[in-house]
Amino acid sequence: MKMESADLLVLNFARGLAREVGLLAKKRIGNLGWTHTKSGFYDIVTDADLEVEKVVKSEISNVFPGDSILGEETGETKTSSNGRVWIVDPIDGTTNFSKGIPHFCVSIGLVVDGTPRVGVVYDPYMDELYEAVKDNGAFMNGEPINVSKTSELKEAVLNTGYQYSAAEYRDIVLKNYVAFFGKVRAIRVFGSAVLDQCYVANGRIDGFWEYNLKPWDVAAGSLIAKEAGATVVGIGEDFSVYGKTILVTNSSLVDKVLEIINR
Ligand code: IPD
Ligand code: CA
Ligand code: CA
Repeated sequence: MKMESADLLVLNFARGLAREVGLLAKKRIGNLGWTHTKSGFYDIVTDADLEVEKVVKSEISNVFPGDSILGEETGETKTSSNGRVWIVDPIDGTTNFSKGIPHFCVSIGLVVDGTPRVGVVYDPYMDELYEAVKDNGAFMNGEPINVSKTSELKEAVLNTGYQYSAAEYRDIVLKNYVAFFGKVRAIRVFGSAVLDQCYVANGRIDGFWEYNLKPWDVAAGSLIAKEAGATVVGIGEDFSVYGKTILVTNSSLVDKVLEIINR
């Protein structure tokens, strides 16, 4: 499908912005400033998260003054009536970032009337820029990407994640993890839900699921995965950017994975 010029404008802008702030975060990794807790001991924020979010919000509102912006650290800046919301995770993988583990990213998504329209994710350590526009495929550093063709569960490498702070999900997280033992090749917990979705998109892993996510964890990543051919569903609910759960995998594995995590 031919890309609309309005989408191309957004994509070009978001690419430049994601690279700019991703490199800013990368520079700060050895020079963290302060780290402090948010809702609880395990929920942290660094001054780099806040700095990145500030730059992103200010640049979006300069270029797209009529749009609304929802950022993880500072909430929704204003509500617009045009149905367009930019959803931003300034650093996804903050715990990795805070320990100097180079696995984190910047995530910028544009959601229109509740549906992801443009998604850009930048991993500054790998220098990998993922992007997608609805109905136009997904790309990494300009090359098309596709989900894996793995069809047997026993050959699958899956990834999951969890928030230590969310005690109400502890049992289900552990139950699911144990339930896959002996059934898949491996389960990983890389610590960046957004990159997990991008890794399903480029076929590095075969599936990812998590409970208790927020819009900034899925707005861009779910679109990139879907456009790379992934099946994106909720767990016990329909998938929505504003929902809580996600399973991203290929069409051959989706029912097999759901059968285990739904037990
Ligand atoms: C977190 C990461 C982590 C996931 C958590 C998220 P943050 O985001 O994506 O992998 O398991 O649920 O909250 O706090 O690093 O932006
Ligand atoms: Ca996040
Ligand atoms: Ca974050």
